[in-house]
Amino acid sequence: MSSESVEPDPEVETRRLANESLRQDDPTGWFERLYSAASDGAAVVPWDRGAAHPLLTSWIESAAPAGEGRRALVVGAGTGWDAELVADQGFSTTAFDISPTAIETARHNHPDSKVEYEVADLLNPPADWQRAFDLVVEIYTVQALPIALQPEATKRVSEFVAAGGTLVVIAAARDDNTPDNAIEGPPWPLTRAAIEAFTTPDLHLIDLDRSPSPNDPTLYRWRAEYLRD
Ligand SMILES: C[S@@+](CC[C@H](N)C(=O)[O-])C[C@H]1O[C@@H](n2cnc3c(N)ncnc32)[C@H](O)[C@@H]1O
Repeated sequence: MSSESVEPDPEVETRRLANESLRQDDPTGWFERLYSAASDGAAVVPWDRGAAHPLLTSWIESAAPAGEGRRALVVGAGTGWDAELVADQGFSTTAFDISPTAIETARHNHPDSKVEYEVADLLNPPADWQRAFDLVVEIYTVQALPIALQPEATKRVSEFVAAGGTLVVIAAARDDNTPDNAIEGPPWPLTRAAIEAFTTPDLHLIDLDRSPSPNDPTLYRWRAEYLRD
């Protein structure tokens, strides 16, 4: 028998922490436990790419948003790579996460950052963030919440967008025919209807891409862009 220790699979460990939290009716508590274990070297955050999301990078390259004098908000910002890219475009950028250790790690990763990193809960955000941001970026946060919480989370994300502002949502895609109870999250990928749920009478879906994941071409991701009147 080999005496080599077997590294735990980060996806398996993440799911274990998530399931434990969900069983205790605490759907967000596992994020802090995971980031905290990762900062002690006892776990790996599976979505931490050490770089901005490629679909955000390509959106920035093609849309070339001018950030000077404008405000941006990055939702569920994790360790800050997407927020740094947004701030590099000149936006005065706030990035938030429910996990204090994620925010601490973001500050540590980007010591010269201009981003304001804050601990906040998407489901109970500061009132003065309503309609306050010219660019809002949401990547993989809504899908990390159980389906029952997604409508509230989606509404909160939409509410951050100021008049004339843009929302960019990147999410794993789910077929509309796959029923909710067939999904063993996290994550709980978003259907096209869930992507459309970010719209309001004055927040319009203006662009929608569905592309295969480079890591697994059987999985698809949405990148949706919305514009508020
Ligand atoms: C799957 S991760 C994605 C992180 C980052 N957006 C990315 O793409 O790398 C989901 C993130 O949302 C955060 N999160 C989950 N629920 C949240 C909530 N209610 N409010 C704020 N952040 C939340 C988690 O701590 C985690 O960092």
